[in-house]
Amino acid sequence: MRNDFVQQDFTALAKFFHWLMAAIIIVGWFIGFYGAEMLSYSVPHSGKAAMITLHKDISTTVLLLIVLRSAWRLTHRPPHAPHASGFQRFAVQAGHFMLYFLMIAMPISGWANSSSAGYTVEFAGIFPLPALVPTNHAIQPIYDAIHKYLGWFTGAVILGHIAMALKHHFIDRDHTLRGMLPGCKRTMSSRAMGR
Ligand code: HEM
Repeated sequence: MRNDFVQQDFTALAKFFHWLMAAIIIVGWFIGFYGAEMLSYSVPHSGKAAMITLHKDISTTVLLLIVLRSAWRLTHRPPHAPHASGFQRFAVQAGHFMLYFLMIAMPISGWANSSSAGYTVEFAGIFPLPALVPTNHAIQPIYDAIHKYLGWFTGAVILGHIAMALKHHFIDRDHTLRGMLPGCKRTMSSRAMGR
């Protein structure tokens, strides 16, 4: 029986990075949003400081994970969809490039925001990181705004990413989403695909 596979699978490590970082970024995003938008330092005992500290402790881990993940990604090509058009491949690559850019820009802009406000940033609440930029209360609102608007843009890009994954699953009915689930393969022999 011919067994000519039309696409490869994501490796276990690629799936591990994907779901670990997805969980951290989504949880960190909601905690950051809740802390920044729903709580106020001017309301006594609002818990804002604790919420922002929790946001930083969770989100600083993205700094380490994105270095490891980028190293893995640069040395391991992801599976490609052989039947996608040139434009579809370009759109997928542009979307994934944007996600990698945001996974770097979000923690960096948050770190710069805290450093410029004169706060020490700790990696996962374990050990202090050096100040990324000097304390400067005049420039701090700019880092704050960059982090805030990048954060909202990140939320929109993540929603778009989830929408595309669901489109693959429910409309295109292909194995793209299933292929990223632990223990599942998206590889299909051409026989299984009826070709
Ligand atoms: C992937 C990583 C990160 C994501 C997705 C993220 C996302 C967010 C979001 C959505 C907000 C709310 C913005 C607003 O509506 O004003 C926020 C606020 C904040 N983030 Fe992050 N963040 C990340 C990493 C970091 C890091 C590493 C730090 C610092 C070390 C940090 C420091 C802050 C601070 C101080 C605020 C509150 C700003 C304010 O109260 O105006 N963030 N973050």
